[in-house]
Amino acid sequence: MNVLGNTEKNPKLVLSDVCKNFGGVVAARDINLEIFGGEVVGLIGPNGAGKTTLINLITGVYKVDKGKIYFKGKDITAQATYQRAIQGIGRTFQHPHLLDRCDIWTNIIMGSDMAARKKHGNKVDLDKVLPELLECAGLQAIYLDDPMSKLSYGQQKLLEVVRVLLSQPDILLLDEPAAGLNNRETQYVSDLIRYAVKHDIGVLLIEHSMELVMSICDRITVLNFGHQITTGLPEEVQNNTEVIEAYLGGGLADAED
Ligand SMILES: Nc1ncnc2c1ncn2[C@@H]1O[C@H](COP(=O)(O)OP(=O)(O)O)[C@@H](O)[C@H]1O
Ligand SMILES: [Mg+2]
Repeated sequence: MNVLGNTEKNPKLVLSDVCKNFGGVVAARDINLEIFGGEVVGLIGPNGAGKTTLINLITGVYKVDKGKIYFKGKDITAQATYQRAIQGIGRTFQHPHLLDRCDIWTNIIMGSDMAARKKHGNKVDLDKVLPELLECAGLQAIYLDDPMSKLSYGQQKLLEVVRVLLSQPDILLLDEPAAGLNNRETQYVSDLIRYAVKHDIGVLLIEHSMELVMSICDRITVLNFGHQITTGLPEEVQNNTEVIEAYLGGGLADAED
């Protein structure tokens, strides 16, 4: 039986004893993680704890020093970034990676293009899916032929989530999607994550907003100096003394960049 009490499903993503050092810096030390479809796993820890490194290891931007990564039951540890993306690993970045000199529409269709490549030519039904996603992101009133510069920073971050959802990933890795966003925009992030869950996408959520993490995550993994302090239910993690110490006694709510 898995952590969700489900006996039938296998995890979509498994990290087994994953290690990564940068010179003398331990960025990941024996990390073990499982993500099931439709589950949200939070990844928290102070600045420099190794959160973004883990996303870079899962997507293949960095090679692991040791350990294995399995995706949908297959060992992908040696695969290139693009192979992992086509198979269904989607991500966003701490600062959005968009084509600044293209219009909004061009940026959006890159997502559906990826879905088509993943499904051997089957395009996403943009007429149906795109309005749903834009509404979820509070972007229903934007003009798609406007340049990217018409969007605020928060809107650009939300658009990046819309784009990756259009690629129909199995696993979605979100690197601080709510950082720099106001309360209303943070609510849209939450709505987009719920959309992902509804579509059986497994989500790894790196986030400093404890309100968001505690409200949406099924399980939480805590990192500190590349070490996995714990993985557990939100209430277990919140009361874990080692976790509280890792945040220098400041309390989880004060953990900011
Ligand atoms: N490409 C790299 N080269 C050297 N050191 C790196 C590199 N990427 C990350 N690091 C180091 O690894 C540690 C973890 O960084 P990072 O994963 O970005 O932390 P977080 O996302 O938790 O703030 C930090 O000490 C950082 O300086
Ligand atoms: Mg980071």
